[in-house]
Amino acid sequence: MATLSVQALPLPPSANPAFFSSFGREVKDVDLDVASDDQLEQIQKLLYEHSCLLFKNQKVSPESQYKLTKIFDPESDRYGHGNNKTGGEKKSILHPDLKTIPRQPQVQVIGNGTVYDHEGLPEARLKHPHHKTFHKTAVSPEDEEAGVTRFYRWHIDAALYDLSPPKVTTLYALQVPKGEQQTLRYDDGTGDELKVPLGTTAFVSGHNMFEVLSEEEKSLAVRLGVEYAPHPYVWMSSAHALPTGLGLESEGLELDLNDLPPWSQDKIKIFPALWKNPVTSNLHLQIHPSAIRALHIAPLPSTAKRTPESLFPDGATITSLPEVRSVVYRLQRQGIRPELVYTQDWEDGDMVLFHNRGVLHSVVGAFTEDQVRVFHQCNLAGTSDPEGPSEEDIKKWA
Ligand SMILES: [Fe+2]
Repeated sequence: MATLSVQALPLPPSANPAFFSSFGREVKDVDLDVASDDQLEQIQKLLYEHSCLLFKNQKVSPESQYKLTKIFDPESDRYGHGNNKTGGEKKSILHPDLKTIPRQPQVQVIGNGTVYDHEGLPEARLKHPHHKTFHKTAVSPEDEEAGVTRFYRWHIDAALYDLSPPKVTTLYALQVPKGEQQTLRYDDGTGDELKVPLGTTAFVSGHNMFEVLSEEEKSLAVRLGVEYAPHPYVWMSSAHALPTGLGLESEGLELDLNDLPPWSQDKIKIFPALWKNPVTSNLHLQIHPSAIRALHIAPLPSTAKRTPESLFPDGATITSLPEVRSVVYRLQRQGIRPELVYTQDWEDGDMVLFHNRGVLHSVVGAFTEDQVRVFHQCNLAGTSDPEGPSEEDIKKWA
């Protein structure tokens, strides 16, 4: 069998190559629309090793994209948020962002502007989400005019209630409007900023996010369980995000649990904060910061050394949202600093596969109504929940 050739992805100048030695590869000489079983098998392994794969100049039908997505979890067949619904309810914050392709409902059309007669959709009005609709504050109109933008929302593609997180997301760019680079500001008092291509998708490695933590933070992460809200995208529908897009402000705006669509305790998801990579065995810090509702921290094992710096050495259950969010923010914020961010400079025909259980990603930028952007996105709810740290990992890191 012929081994697929790969090369490193071009990094943005802001990225520190030391963090990207294994992250991201362009895979050459594959036609994804007719890829062989052998090629698909190699792609699977490459994805777990490199987190993010780019294929240039592709022409991929929704059927082929579905097939490509499905190889990672052959028994799965439902869209990551369930088929023909987006987070379950009209009130969900995901609702306006997604349009389903009728004959292949696991594949969504996303983008900006209006497209006509597209894959069985007579008319689809697409809206690239803008941070001003989600963040508590927004960049001023003058700054926006000058090309300033933000991360919209750092996330994992996952329902986080009832369904298990998809293993992979495939993102296919059919039409990409070109425009000036933008300046992405974090606006959190650090002065951090990034130069980004218009409408980029930003990625960070969950493995890097874990690696950059202090010893005490790693010990906390390996003992941490994260509980998500029922119907999280409805629950958070009135809340506002932080200027980094990395979680929510605590203003008491989340819906009361009694006002949510019907839910049951057995469908609530409590995941380990660290997810184990099935090929490399690396640990990836994978938390969807906007959807978290409680933390469950195990005590330090008796073999671990306790110091005054140990975090929650006796374990804890935290249900106060401001505290839940500040603990998670502390663990995640370092992992999105500019040198750790990969920004995809999209071109027509680009297909990106990303390891949804190994990276966090965010929409970036803003388009005008006449800038038409068309992408196909597919992910499938997992058939099982992610695996957490092993006994050995806990012994090593706690
Ligand atoms: Fe996403």
